[in-house]
Amino acid sequence: MTTVAIALAERISLISESSTMKVAAAADKLRRQGVDVVDFGAGEPDFPTPDNIKEAAVQALRDNFTKYTPAGGTQELKEAICERHAKDYGTAYKTNECIVTVGGKHVIFNLMQVLVNPGDEVVIPVPYWVTYKDVVNYAGGKCVFVDTDEDAGFTLTAGMIAPHLTSRTKIVLINSPSNPSGGVLSREEFEKIYQLTSSRGIFLMTDECYCRFLYDEEPFSIAAMPGGKENVIVAGSLSKTYAMTGWRIGFGLAPAPVISAIGKLQSHMTSNPTSIAQKAAVEALRGPQESVGVMLAEYRRRRDYVIARLRAMSGVKINEPKGAFYAYPNISVAFGKNGIHSAMDFSEKLLDQAKVAVVPGEAFGTDKHVRISYATSMEELKRGLDRIETFLKELR
Ligand SMILES: Cc1ncc(COP(=O)(O)O)c(C=O)c1O
Repeated sequence: MTTVAIALAERISLISESSTMKVAAAADKLRRQGVDVVDFGAGEPDFPTPDNIKEAAVQALRDNFTKYTPAGGTQELKEAICERHAKDYGTAYKTNECIVTVGGKHVIFNLMQVLVNPGDEVVIPVPYWVTYKDVVNYAGGKCVFVDTDEDAGFTLTAGMIAPHLTSRTKIVLINSPSNPSGGVLSREEFEKIYQLTSSRGIFLMTDECYCRFLYDEEPFSIAAMPGGKENVIVAGSLSKTYAMTGWRIGFGLAPAPVISAIGKLQSHMTSNPTSIAQKAAVEALRGPQESVGVMLAEYRRRRDYVIARLRAMSGVKINEPKGAFYAYPNISVAFGKNGIHSAMDFSEKLLDQAKVAVVPGEAFGTDKHVRISYATSMEELKRGLDRIETFLKELR
């Protein structure tokens, strides 16, 4: 067979495949071969979507709500998003400041496309969610990475950000609670960062994907600050909050010109998010919210178990996650043993020898950590952590 060289557009070389998706594929391949893999790679709730939400989608089907909707989402859903955000956080968005997207990833991609010019800088704290770097690069922007303090739970301060701001800084992007570290920015520090960015005309983008999953603090949105609507951009998602990863509903809250620019882009790209998923999303946002608390309580129970187990493993350093459902242990104690010199080596050997899938820290900008998702059952957590413990003990 001859291989034909295909000249792909240069811009596609600016991004690489999501490494979290790669881990999922490697674990899945083993599983299909009949191997008993414990999967800590998946960043999605193991809970089913609550019944009332599923019922709303079924009803939408019965009602033949199966046609195009406006590209930026139905008026009904935009109203429900603004209402929920107002109830939860005290904001006052109008529907022309809101857009519905095909998941949270989509809104972040679109925001970068409509805001970032070639050479514009986007400040991103490390560790960061895997997608940020690629979507900024794809828009022609420049990522400016800011280290956080691992010893203090990967904390970030306004003082750490300030030296990285330049005349080209367009956006400071904050994800709290953080994927992958579970770190949470205190309200006080978030407000200081807001003062810093808004005083310099820089957008503060807040990825609120895990906002409802906080263990110690009450959920808040920095968009509720006075002047927040002009200076803050919210990237939101229903994926984790309502266990709706497959439904693909996210949203953006931003100044109206930003929203209408995304609307234009979306009108030529995806058109509307799936009509019946939009009806389900209205029910998620307006219906009973108890399921969120039930999930949070279960995540807390699992977090406590995972952290206690990791703390008992000699040489492993771990910060207690304050939100989301990930633990991000420093596993550099394994370096120099069994040919392991990086988190990537560690993850490959762990999957190969102990049949446990974790995501290597390189995906998130650090090379001494792995991400363990505890959005899985206690039984699976026990099985996987037993294997990790044995793997570490047997390293020579
Ligand atoms: C930090 C963060 N933001 C946004 C998303 C986007 O999620 P989705 O596209 O499923 O809404 C994810 C998903 O893993 C995430 O971890």
